[in-house]
Amino acid sequence: MKDKNTLPIYKSKKTVKLSKKEEREYQKLKEELIQIKVNDENITVQDNEIKRLMDKQQIQSDNIIKKINNDLNGYGKIDILLQDDELEEIMIIGSNKPVYVYHRTKGMMITEILLTEPEIRQIITKIANFVQRKIDKQTPILDARLPDGSRVNATIPPITADGPTLTIRKFKKEQLTIFDLINFNSINTHLAAFLWIVIDGLNVRPSNIIIAGGTGSGKTTTLNTLTSFIPTRERIITIEDTLELQIPQNHVIRTETRPPNIEGKGEINMDVLLKNSLRQRPDRIIVGEVRSKEAITLFTALNTGHSGLGTLHANSTQETVNRLINPPMNVPTIMINSIDFIIMQNRIYHPSKGTIRRVTEVAEVVGMEMNKVQLNQIYRYNYSKDKLEYIAISSNALNEIASMKGLSSQEILKEIENRQEYLENNLKNERIDIYETKKILNNYEYQQNKLIEE
Ligand SMILES: Nc1ncnc2c1ncn2[C@@H]1O[C@H](COP(=O)(O)OP(=O)(O)OP(=O)(O)O)[C@@H](O)[C@H]1O
Ligand SMILES: [Mg+2]
Repeated sequence: MKDKNTLPIYKSKKTVKLSKKEEREYQKLKEELIQIKVNDENITVQDNEIKRLMDKQQIQSDNIIKKINNDLNGYGKIDILLQDDELEEIMIIGSNKPVYVYHRTKGMMITEILLTEPEIRQIITKIANFVQRKIDKQTPILDARLPDGSRVNATIPPITADGPTLTIRKFKKEQLTIFDLINFNSINTHLAAFLWIVIDGLNVRPSNIIIAGGTGSGKTTTLNTLTSFIPTRERIITIEDTLELQIPQNHVIRTETRPPNIEGKGEINMDVLLKNSLRQRPDRIIVGEVRSKEAITLFTALNTGHSGLGTLHANSTQETVNRLINPPMNVPTIMINSIDFIIMQNRIYHPSKGTIRRVTEVAEVVGMEMNKVQLNQIYRYNYSKDKLEYIAISSNALNEIASMKGLSSQEILKEIENRQEYLENNLKNERIDIYETKKILNNYEYQQNKLIEE
């Protein structure tokens, strides 16, 4: 009987197919090139080198050039997957097992590509060499970034049972913007306008926000889009394990942690970077992912007047708080108050829409009661309507902004509506980049400079 639960098969349209004659010529050329390159320090093969050899042997075929390029300069059999922009993730789970991919719209799929142990090791070694690190029995885990910005994690036995594994989160060349998230219905214009106000804080009270969610739920993407609400005059410092954020402002210092070198020395972790950033007079600190003892440093900074944004891996707003106050983060409960909002990001499988990503809740941290952090829901996602609903009676952060600016609660709510309308009027069908988006948002501030500059 056919199993209805099997995954769809991914077939690449881009596979280079060689005729029998081309296949013979290709094998011969490849051997020659390997001979030439064995003693050469520069291991990459240029197109003109391939062409010269082909001319010598009177071979003419663009397909052969492509295939040799993939084989020698790329990542072998998975190259076609790396070239497909529709794929979010490429997953090698061990030797002689099919490679899995995560498709932007179709979700998890299985490919017909199988790799042997030496083939996987070859790809991993190539990546390790590129980042000048090693992976071996003593250090069987490798975190790295490919030249195109894709994020890579590799493991080898003994920590993985069925051979080496490789997980590649492909870099999205075109960063999504707040307008994309609105168009995708990941966020609505009301929430976008709300976040716009609480993040720029009308220049008097910027909010601290944690974006929480599961793996691949879109936390980093949402964080990235929200950075466009940070006023241009601010000094921004970003801290990440692997550079992913792309921020439209010019005044940004981007920092990245460094794992230990081959001798196990020279590690620079998030905590060190964060402490250092505090000596650099930041207005806004953005932490890619909070997960360890740097949390205390971050919360100390937030409690002493710095503003921050970051992501955290958790499945609910309450779990976000629990993770923060328990080991290994150990943030004192009293300090949690410095967060204004927790945004929950979710990846959902929708029966007719396929994989969708949604903000499913926004909660405000409103204080402490009996040593317990109190959360107040501001937005809640309605699953059956696929709609985010504003359910707040009031928001402390918003009220504080209003009172600092001398606005009534009606006036600040009107300001949300104005910005909502402005976002709606600027929604376009064609995609615009983060810089264009920032310009549009800046223009609004310009029109409203009475509210902003006072
Ligand atoms: N709202 C969205 N709509 C459509 N695609 C999205 C959305 N948000 C993110 N993506 C895509 O989903 C993938 C994962 O996104 P992202 O890296 O932001 O997730 P994450 O939660 O930070 O993942 P991780 O847990 O690995 O850090 C990326 O390819 C990104 O382009
Ligand atoms: Mg992330």
